[in-house]
Amino acid sequence: MDRGGHALRATLLLLLTLPTIPVPVACPATAAAFLEEDTILGAVGSAMRGGGSKGPANASTRPPRGGAGRQHRYDVGSWKEEIAGLAGRPELAAWLRRVRRRIHERPELAYEEVETSRLVRDELDALGVGFLHPVARTGVVATLGTGRPPVVALRADMDALPIQEAVEWEHKSRVPGKMHACGHDAHVAMLLGAASILKSREHQLKGTVKLLFQPAEESGCGAKRMIEDGALDGVEAIFAVHVSHQHPTSVIGSRTGALLAGCGFFKAVVRGGGDKGPRRADPVLAAASTIISLQSIVSREADPLDSQVVSVALVKGSEIEIQQAAAAGAAQPQELELVLGGTFRAFSNASFYQLRRRIEEVITAQSRVHGCAASVDFFEDQSFYPPTVNDARMYGHVRRVASQLLGGAAYRDVPPMMGAEDFSFYSQAVPAGFYYIGVRNETLGSVHTGHSPYFMIDEDVLPTGAAVHAAIAERFLADHASLMGAASDDDDTGDQQEM
Ligand SMILES: *[C@@H]1O[C@H](CO)[C@@H](O)[C@H](O)[C@H]1NC(C)=O
Ligand SMILES: *[C@@H]1O[C@H](CO)[C@@H](O)[C@H](O)[C@H]1NC(C)=O
Ligand SMILES: *[C@@H]1O[C@H](CO)[C@@H](O)[C@H](O)[C@H]1NC(C)=O
Ligand SMILES: [Zn+2]
Ligand SMILES: [Zn+2]
Repeated sequence: MDRGGHALRATLLLLLTLPTIPVPVACPATAAAFLEEDTILGAVGSAMRGGGSKGPANASTRPPRGGAGRQHRYDVGSWKEEIAGLAGRPELAAWLRRVRRRIHERPELAYEEVETSRLVRDELDALGVGFLHPVARTGVVATLGTGRPPVVALRADMDALPIQEAVEWEHKSRVPGKMHACGHDAHVAMLLGAASILKSREHQLKGTVKLLFQPAEESGCGAKRMIEDGALDGVEAIFAVHVSHQHPTSVIGSRTGALLAGCGFFKAVVRGGGDKGPRRADPVLAAASTIISLQSIVSREADPLDSQVVSVALVKGSEIEIQQAAAAGAAQPQELELVLGGTFRAFSNASFYQLRRRIEEVITAQSRVHGCAASVDFFEDQSFYPPTVNDARMYGHVRRVASQLLGGAAYRDVPPMMGAEDFSFYSQAVPAGFYYIGVRNETLGSVHTGHSPYFMIDEDVLPTGAAVHAAIAERFLADHASLMGAASDDDDTGDQQEM
């Protein structure tokens, strides 16, 4: 998930003199919000940890396959206890911790997830889960279940960030300047955990589960490439989880409709100059009036109830040209180029694309007014993420399953956040449910936001995340008819919430 960390953003943001993006505090972390922590964790703890002793024999040191020796018959009442039992086995927790730590020690950036991808495939092999590779270069798509429709997908992102880890611990990143500072190492581990749980319940699945291990979430639009490579073929709904320092360990948070903003960047080059005497086209003036006009897009055109941001974060001219012009005694250089850079965010798809269109129009038209020419780049293959919008039914499914599995106190509705996620590409294509899982633990010190060099997680989250993933997929297939069937009255879907 984007907190403004990757290279392009860093360039833009570091060069700022303005405070860029007014990020609303997403979930006011008031003392009151965390007072109930003990109760919540009690509930989670009894669901996950308490179930542990019921697990199957400790036969293997490889990924626990669970279920061995127990033949399940499908029983609506017992999925909860059975999944909690599988997730609660100490050997599952130990395995997930090992996997997560191995990935954490060897972080790999977008489209370079070679070792991470190999680890995923090795673990899937050990579980006896089939997969496709390569998908979107380093990506892996595993398949469980009947091989027939309906098909539901779960997604984990695999890439790390160009950040130097500042946490001193045994499994600190061994790669200078790279770190899993967004928890994608945990996402991979939790999805492998789900593979293990679902494998032992495979005979009960009423359809097919696809597990998407995708590259390049932080930059490079990995999700878009996964889709281009067929990862969503036949898929009717998709779910994903992101760790969050805003909620206590293992607490689930989500919301219906827009959850994360659409996020784009632009860089415009305004060219002017030329030998036209007093009518010389002046790109400095063109850029100045362009910046003023860009400010009026949000203030004058946008619905004030539909949050949007346009920030010009960079203005750069060529000093050398200016110096050369001065040396030559000219009032202005012959040719001058001015670069404008900035970012824009919006919560609805329509507004996001409207901002992109208007930014381009304003820059090119204002430049023309001053006799200059401008071109605008939106980095559409690197950092152009539409809003992440939860489908009302899939949101309801996440809330229901999480509450049943972990107890009602372990689920919270959360406000939208200005961050961005490339999960949005999936949410544009099929009904989607994106949710957070808490990793906050004051005792451990896991209180830092994603993309901080101090970011860390409470690893106790891993089995819970695996269980929630597995339960969401299994219950989606079991409840498919009611979830996907009667959509007629459901005019509360994400798309229709757009303004
Ligand atoms: C499993 O644990 C039991 C005790 O709980 C022990 O007697 C047995 O040797 C263990 N089996 C394996 C294969 O490790
Ligand atoms: C979002 O808007 C773009 C541009 O109008 C459109 O191509 C795309 O289909 C829209 N996506 C959704 C989910 O409405
Ligand atoms: C925080 O982590 C410590 C150490 O693992 C654990 O004992 C404690 O129960 C955790 N606290 C919460 C609130 O999860
Ligand atoms: Zn991130
Ligand atoms: Zn992330």
